[in-house]
Amino acid sequence: MKSKILVWDLPTRWFHWLLALSFAGAWLTSESERYSALHVMLGYTLLGLIAFRLVWGFAGTRYARFADFAYSPAKIGQYLKSLASRSPGHYLGHNPAGAVAVFLLLALGLATGISGWLTYNDIGGEAYEEVHEFLANFMLLVVGVHIAGVIVSSFLHRENLARAMVTGYKEGETDAAIRQKRGLVALLLVAAVAGFWGLWFNGNLDSLVSGQAEAHAGYDGGHDDDD
Ligand code: HEM
Repeated sequence: MKSKILVWDLPTRWFHWLLALSFAGAWLTSESERYSALHVMLGYTLLGLIAFRLVWGFAGTRYARFADFAYSPAKIGQYLKSLASRSPGHYLGHNPAGAVAVFLLLALGLATGISGWLTYNDIGGEAYEEVHEFLANFMLLVVGVHIAGVIVSSFLHRENLARAMVTGYKEGETDAAIRQKRGLVALLLVAAVAGFWGLWFNGNLDSLVSGQAEAHAGYDGGHDDDD
């Protein structure tokens, strides 16, 4: 029998919205010299969140595990074909096309964060700055495709996927539900992010970054103009 069942655990949901927020914030502050400290803080947050997600991909609940959405190219092709049919394939966790975007976003987030760190620390000269900018632009494109995919999929299956990423619940067979929300892990994740932001704003992480910050007094977020 179908009913509302829990699909996304709390750490996965908090990870997602904090990632979206960090990416949006880092993007919006990327052109600004005035907000470059915020930009760097959000970049570190993005890297930390992805490091968490890499662990959670093995330690998380059923639908958060990489094994649940590591589809073969044939499965991805089949799914894409099914989209044109009257009954497109339906998945409780990530569907095969969505899974490609998820892996791509995680890899791009990691590569964008690392190339930003290299730029900020003056390692590798101008080259990483270009790479960083290119990766960030490419990531924005994939985010756009990701959001479009979520909207199309929501219409095709008449289910609000974005709401499910907020509440954790979808319509499904009761025995397919995950049993635990893993609230404590989510709390630790949110506390870690909040603690990091607090320390950053209070200047307590100066030893970590600002010795470098002086070296990068001229850092402008990788762009030519000012705020
Ligand atoms: C308003 C903006 C956004 C909405 C509505 C949205 C919505 C969603 C939804 C519904 C899912 C689950 C897809 C499914 O059911 O298979 C998802 C997954 C995901 N989204 Fe987004 N998303 C947004 C922005 C972003 C941004 C900006 C990023 C990256 C910077 C992002 C990265 C991801 C990742 C990595 C996952 C996989 C979650 C996981 O398994 O941990 N999303 N998103």
